[in-house]
Amino acid sequence: MPILLQPIGVIHTPFTDPTQTPIQASRSTALGHVEVFPEFVEGLQDIEDLSHLILLYVLHRQSAYALRVQPFLDDRLHGVFATRYPQRPNFIGLSIVHLLARHEHVLEFEGADMLDGTPLIDIKPYVPEFDVRADVRLGWYGTRSKL
Ligand SMILES: C[S@@+](CC[C@H](N)C(=O)[O-])C[C@H]1O[C@@H](n2cnc3c(N)ncnc32)[C@H](O)[C@@H]1O
Repeated sequence: MPILLQPIGVIHTPFTDPTQTPIQASRSTALGHVEVFPEFVEGLQDIEDLSHLILLYVLHRQSAYALRVQPFLDDRLHGVFATRYPQRPNFIGLSIVHLLARHEHVLEFEGADMLDGTPLIDIKPYVPEFDVRADVRLGWYGTRSKL
């Protein structure tokens, strides 16, 4: 069953080359901004009171996926669903970013790890109570070959 998604906005960042783009938002101090399309702006009410947002987006410049990939942080192959590698079915990315300011339909943030022009499909609040877990098992991330 195909699923049709409608972008709610677009993400602007300094990055145009995937090889020069940070690999995770938590490792990035790059600034970016989200432009939310007019028909969705009412949904931004109260967002300026939040410090961190989860951005969900389409890795739109990927054209192929693999089920076994070599992620940026390792020299071994892993199943794509055990990684955050961008060449994945459905090309969905997520980043937790630091919201710096809201100007009407524009959200300025720190922590860009996506390419300029990336289509945004959802925004959710980052809530430690919901999103932070203790005692996690890290699998290959715990024995990875690169920092
Ligand atoms: C490892 S992925 C992680 C993305 C996201 N933080 C996640 O965990 O889903 C980050 C890499 O994806 C690539 N990338 C970012 N935005 C993209 C886009 N719009 N289309 C294709 N590739 C993209 C860049 O090479 C970037 O370094």
